[in-house]
Amino acid sequence: MESVNLVEASKTLQKKQNETLQDFFSSKKQEKLNKKVVWHEFFNEIPKDITSPSIIIAHEFFDALPIFKFQYTKNGWREILVDIKEEIEDSKNSGEFRFVLAPGETQASISLTDTPRFDAEKKVGNVIEVSAESFDITREIASRINENGGFGLIFDYGKDNVSNDSLRGVSNHKFVSILKEPGSCDITADVDFSLLKSACSHLAFPYGPITQKKFLETMGIYTRLGMLLKKGGLNSSQRKSLVSGVKRLTSLENNVGMGNIYKVLAITNNQLVPYSFDSDETLVNETRQTEGLEEEKIN
Ligand SMILES: C[S@@+](CC[C@H](N)C(=O)[O-])C[C@H]1O[C@@H](n2cnc3c(N)ncnc32)[C@H](O)[C@@H]1O
Repeated sequence: MESVNLVEASKTLQKKQNETLQDFFSSKKQEKLNKKVVWHEFFNEIPKDITSPSIIIAHEFFDALPIFKFQYTKNGWREILVDIKEEIEDSKNSGEFRFVLAPGETQASISLTDTPRFDAEKKVGNVIEVSAESFDITREIASRINENGGFGLIFDYGKDNVSNDSLRGVSNHKFVSILKEPGSCDITADVDFSLLKSACSHLAFPYGPITQKKFLETMGIYTRLGMLLKKGGLNSSQRKSLVSGVKRLTSLENNVGMGNIYKVLAITNNQLVPYSFDSDETLVNETRQTEGLEEEKIN
């Protein structure tokens, strides 16, 4: 392996990741790997002269990238901007932010909405979200895979179509208004996987997105769980936590788990459909039966 490149924009989180990984690196086997790990603030800082095939994994990365928001009006798409509330109107709200519609066209509304992808969305009042940065980074991923081989796996919550009104703030695992406490909450938006797929065009082959449930099941999550449970050395609460962890990762009920809301997109440089991404649903059933440790039995 030539190198391990971790991309994290926040220096504080880079330090935290490093600290977390120290335990792993401390074992004799991983000592050499430690020297190969490099942090970058941005994806395009990963050296271009890496010539070996790249395995690129993005986990909850794209949902944190900036988006543009547009609303369809009788005059066409208008960008939604952030403004400061008028002090005179309500002194209590002075200094607070609010969303407003741009009075006319903006550079973004002209350049990002002029595509047939949004034709079906042209109804007055409809809102769409477009992440230009997600498009650019996916194109870079596809370009690297095109040049050196390898593959990409993108895990995130989102859908295989245009994102509408999904921008939200998250603080202490609860949804909050992004305008109330800017800077102190996480800002996130659903990933438009159809946009990421279009970014691969002429460079690489995208597959999926499939649900996280299908990906983990076909990759053998129950076999892994069975191995860990059989290995012994775990007390009852650790065993329960492993089982509930698997349930959380695979459940299709959105209020219980992430099996459906989280999707997985694969990017490769050829037309061989990657194993889990086969559209044939019997694959999942076969894997479950072979493993004999399907969901019903761990519940
Ligand atoms: C939703 S978090 C996911 C963190 C991680 N995947 C995990 O499971 O804990 C997204 C991360 O992407 C980082 N980030 C946001 N924009 C970025 C960019 N343009 N380049 C690199 N990292 C970025 C944020 O600092 C944040 O730590």
